[in-house]
Amino acid sequence: MTLLVTGAAGFIGSNLVHHLRRVWPERQVVSFDLLSYAGNLENLDGVRGDAGHVFVRGDVASRDDVRGVFERFDVTGVFHLAAESHVDRSIVDAAAFVRTNVNGTVVLLQEAARAWRGRTDVLFHHVSTDEVFGSLGADGSFGPDTPYAPSSPYSASKAASDHFVRAWHTTYGLPVVVTNCSNNYGPYQFPEKLIPVVISRALAGEPVPVYGRGANVRDWLYVEDHCAAMVAVFANGQRGATYCIGGESEVCNLDLVKMVLDEVDRARGLEPGRSHGLIRFVEDRPGHDFRYAIDISRIREELDWWPSVSLREGLRRTVAWYLAHQDWTERARRGDHRAFEELWYADRLRAAERAAAEQEEQR
Ligand code: NAD
Ligand code: TYD
Repeated sequence: MTLLVTGAAGFIGSNLVHHLRRVWPERQVVSFDLLSYAGNLENLDGVRGDAGHVFVRGDVASRDDVRGVFERFDVTGVFHLAAESHVDRSIVDAAAFVRTNVNGTVVLLQEAARAWRGRTDVLFHHVSTDEVFGSLGADGSFGPDTPYAPSSPYSASKAASDHFVRAWHTTYGLPVVVTNCSNNYGPYQFPEKLIPVVISRALAGEPVPVYGRGANVRDWLYVEDHCAAMVAVFANGQRGATYCIGGESEVCNLDLVKMVLDEVDRARGLEPGRSHGLIRFVEDRPGHDFRYAIDISRIREELDWWPSVSLREGLRRTVAWYLAHQDWTERARRGDHRAFEELWYADRLRAAERAAAEQEEQR
């Protein structure tokens, strides 16, 4: 059996490739990735020289690239993760999100359906986000039957891709599963997402931007638990079904940032709390979803999966990884990403510094 993983050089993709090689060593893995700013071949160093693994550089939105893979390999399973994944970037420019997340998913569906021609011993696993459901208030949670209400260009593009995947199931009988997962964290996460932003900035002694007052709530899942959930759904999930995956680990951003900073302090032999002074409250993200939370009953009851790594333990492992890979983070933050950081954060941080200085003067 040959498994195609799209977006394999990204954060979750690279963790999944390593996980698949460990749990299913008899299955070949074909890693497919365009190597955008967020993709990094170093993330796949752990499977370099592994006879059961092949890397192919290509674009999911290119019919030729995708058809080439289906012609070269007898792919019987797809894990589709390739995407533009950062909400803030989607607010600045949505074009790449439509191209990769929407058009790319449709190209992949068309080519999988063409190669598989009605086969039922195959599976297209679409990896999506809980952000398609929109924002929760103080109560409640998202489940597989929650109506879609995406807020950001990113979540709108993922919502569209989910609908296309279900349409291919309904219209053409393509065997599919969809998973909608909450916020992941762990090794290899690009330092644009909250947790690696906090770690990398704290290590560099740079201010840590918290949007608004840090009251927004996310549900955090350690990436290795997400990989185990995907494998469980791929192996035994009902074809055509949706599974919601979450960490049962809700925390508001300000508390999370403090936990991460404490973990960084501990890892450097400092008193926890030492780095809290780096926190800066900056102008909020437009359209910022207030809260996400997941009801994991379906995957727990049907597939016996639940999160196994506590937030505290996951953060400890994550901070240790980033401390040991500071050169990786520095390389990731160079180039294209520096330009985005400057565009997105510079004015916000300057305004926060001015406000802090004014408050100090008034005292
Ligand atoms: P990421 O940005 O770290 O990685 C995305 C990968 O896709 C990169 O390697 C990039 O090079 C590749 N890619 C981008 N455009 C491509 C294209 N046109 N063709 C081929 N490859 C392309 O993202 P991630 O955080 O690992 O997320 C992976 C998937 O999981 C995404 O579909 C995302 O929506 C979903 N997801 C992420 C989270 C999370 O918390 N990170 C949560 C739920 C779901
Ligand atoms: P992020 O990691 O971008 O994931 P998502 O927006 O997909 O949930 O952000 C997580 C939360 O952290 C979100 O509420 C926005 C907030 N945030 C900050 O406060 N500061 C930051 O620098 C970033 C990147 C995010």
